[in-house]
Amino acid sequence: MTKVRAAITAVEGYLPDYILTNDELSTMVDTNDEWIMTRIGIKERRILKGEGKGTSDLGEKVVKKILESKSIDPSEIELVICCTVTPDMLFPATANIIADKCGIKNGFGFDINAGCSGFIYGLTTAAKYIESGFVKKVIVVGAEKMSSIVNYQDRATCPIFGDGAGAVLLEATEEEFGFMDSGLYSDGVGRIHLHQKAGGSVRPPSHETIDAREHFIYQEGQPVFKWAVTKMAEATEALMQKNNLKAEDISFVLPHQANLRIIDATGSRLGVDPSKVLRNIEKYGNTTSATIPLLMWENQSKFKKGDNLILTAFGAGFTWGAIWIKWAI
Ligand code: UT7
Repeated sequence: MTKVRAAITAVEGYLPDYILTNDELSTMVDTNDEWIMTRIGIKERRILKGEGKGTSDLGEKVVKKILESKSIDPSEIELVICCTVTPDMLFPATANIIADKCGIKNGFGFDINAGCSGFIYGLTTAAKYIESGFVKKVIVVGAEKMSSIVNYQDRATCPIFGDGAGAVLLEATEEEFGFMDSGLYSDGVGRIHLHQKAGGSVRPPSHETIDAREHFIYQEGQPVFKWAVTKMAEATEALMQKNNLKAEDISFVLPHQANLRIIDATGSRLGVDPSKVLRNIEKYGNTTSATIPLLMWENQSKFKKGDNLILTAFGAGFTWGAIWIKWAI
């Protein structure tokens, strides 16, 4: 029997209009363009403005773009997975809200919270649903309104994050293209270094948690940095070894965009030519679950059918992993 695979047949991205520059940030906290560019590599990031606007509004934009560009009736979509750490609400899942806003009424949906690895977790989950024969058409969205959990009084975190969304359509195929393999990992020991202190069941919202500014991202940058550099490279090396892929077989690496130094270190450890290691961190910062689909969207004109793409990410949890895709369009 021929193996059913999941092929990416469309990719879209969306970025809100407002541009928060390093110069504007330096009027808010004690920082400057030179420090941010040297230590992180970000020039500007996008911010979703507007009362009552949330992650689902970003997700809605990309999902509608996919439905329109592929002329697909919403009723054909059987599953929507939204990867996010900034859901509209703690419940219900933002995937359900996006699906409703896009008229997707014939399927099911759920969210994945795997920090900055959200998209690679979501893509792997979607591919497995398709490979099993359970569904044939899935949309995976990575969408984040990171500005809703960034403390703009904390110079150690506020330059890093931005808002945005990207999404892919995955369809069943019997061709030897699409999602080929992945390796996903997590280690909850890392939660002490990267988390949001309050708002969950351990520390529900109270006057005290708000006064202590505990509803924002808490990050100890250096341990996260060290883990990220090691684990993204390790996961990718393991995946390449398992599938007998050499550095020269890789057409492009799409790494999570958290820090230019992490991207460069990962690329050089893999021995992949720097021109093949894609980046857009300078323009958008770290959009968490949206970095990889945004990178794919912006660079898709460079990809040829059959190109080997490696996606790799590291994030809160800790979570990390890598995916091998054979570009199918
Ligand atoms: O996507 C999820 C995963 N997240 C990541 O991958 C993030 C990983 N971590 C990092 O990217 C880096 O650790 C950071 C960008 C967060 C920080 O860079 P760093 O090189 O590790 O800097 P640091 O925290 O060691 O701080 C160095 C100095 C400190 O001053 P002192 O103590 O040496 O006087 C900080 O107070 O830089 C200072 N500093 C700043 N200075 C100007 C920290 N933030 C800033 C700032 N502007 N924005």
